Amino acid sequence: MATLLLTNIGQLTTVDQNARVLEHAAVLIQDSLIAWVGDMGQAPQADESIDLGGRAVLPGWVDSHSHLIFGGDRAEEFVARMAGQSYAAGGIAVTTSATSQLSDNELSEAVAARRAEALAMGTTWMETKTGYGLAVDEETRHSVLGKPLVDSLTFLGAHLVPAGWDADEYTELVTGPMLDAVADNVDFVDVFCERGAFTEEQSRRVLEAARAKGLATKVHGNQLGPGPGVQLAVEFGSHSVDHVNYLEEEDIQALAGSWAGWDSATRTGTPGTVATCLPACDLSTRQPLAPGRELLDAGVRIALASNCNPGTSYTSNMNFCVATAVLQMNLSLAEAIEAATYGGALALGVAGQTGSIEVGKRADLHVLDAPVAAHLAYRPGMNLTHSVYRAGKAI
Ligand code: NIG
Repeated sequence: MATLLLTNIGQLTTVDQNARVLEHAAVLIQDSLIAWVGDMGQAPQADESIDLGGRAVLPGWVDSHSHLIFGGDRAEEFVARMAGQSYAAGGIAVTTSATSQLSDNELSEAVAARRAEALAMGTTWMETKTGYGLAVDEETRHSVLGKPLVDSLTFLGAHLVPAGWDADEYTELVTGPMLDAVADNVDFVDVFCERGAFTEEQSRRVLEAARAKGLATKVHGNQLGPGPGVQLAVEFGSHSVDHVNYLEEEDIQALAGSWAGWDSATRTGTPGTVATCLPACDLSTRQPLAPGRELLDAGVRIALASNCNPGTSYTSNMNFCVATAVLQMNLSLAEAIEAATYGGALALGVAGQTGSIEVGKRADLHVLDAPVAAHLAYRPGMNLTHSVYRAGKAI
């Protein structure tokens, strides 16, 4: 079995349960896994050794919310929004039409290029969603093409009611033939529970259909105004509710209550519903930033994700999301890094595999061209990714 030692790490942010930050550290990788972590002076011998020159290392980003399976872009809509127009879900139809015009090869290449772009910026685990198909054949095609290109795949047939459809009839289609067609390809079922998309009752039907199939769930909720999305997600034990811009006190309490069976000190027990904050989307849609600080203070576990998509957040740069969370959402750097790594892993149910630098986990590492991780927020907008290791392989 091949071993690789990454040594002379100036600062190693482990995001382990003790939030250890080590100086003069080293990490031993054996094949795809982390085999040893500690002081570089005590590091074991390895087949190969790489001197990182005092650079900072942290876990690779776990981006738990993106929509990479699309064609075209919506720059005009963005420009109109910056001129004062507000975001409405209807723009999804523009992307659905552009995506349907791409061949399988063109669509796969577009998704692979977006995935590669994110990986080059430190994202070692990436979720993406269908949701620009909105018809049985297209949603199926997107799930088949998307699956090999990402780490976690979510079915979002309930993204928008397509033109010409009655909303209840379309919900029947999503929860019946469409879900049947994609179920074997996906890890999660998601629903956009929002005015202009799916009502509480329709969203409930989507979540019930997922449950009946034994599939885990997520909810797009409380993005454009207060609504039932958070409460539904908690009721159904969803892994996450995403956006969470407009929260009432009861929503925060419900989310906090969902974590009652989880012991944060040992990271054991039953995880609750992660509140996924999407700061790049909030800026691009000029929505109030999600209340990450209040959520953390209430005991809710949060994730930070890019929400890369052509409508509301055309970036997969997690360095930018982390910097924004520190500078604009009042998170400490350690909180923001944890939300973008371990928090994302919790939101995807993969915290046993990735999201922290610990023996036995996948060797997903992000080397910064900086001596300390604080540079992520201290030097916002700079390209600070020096190198990336995914499952032990240098990218
Ligand atoms: O997460 N909110 C719904 N879905 C996407 C936006 C989709 C679009 O406008 O194309 C989001 O922001």
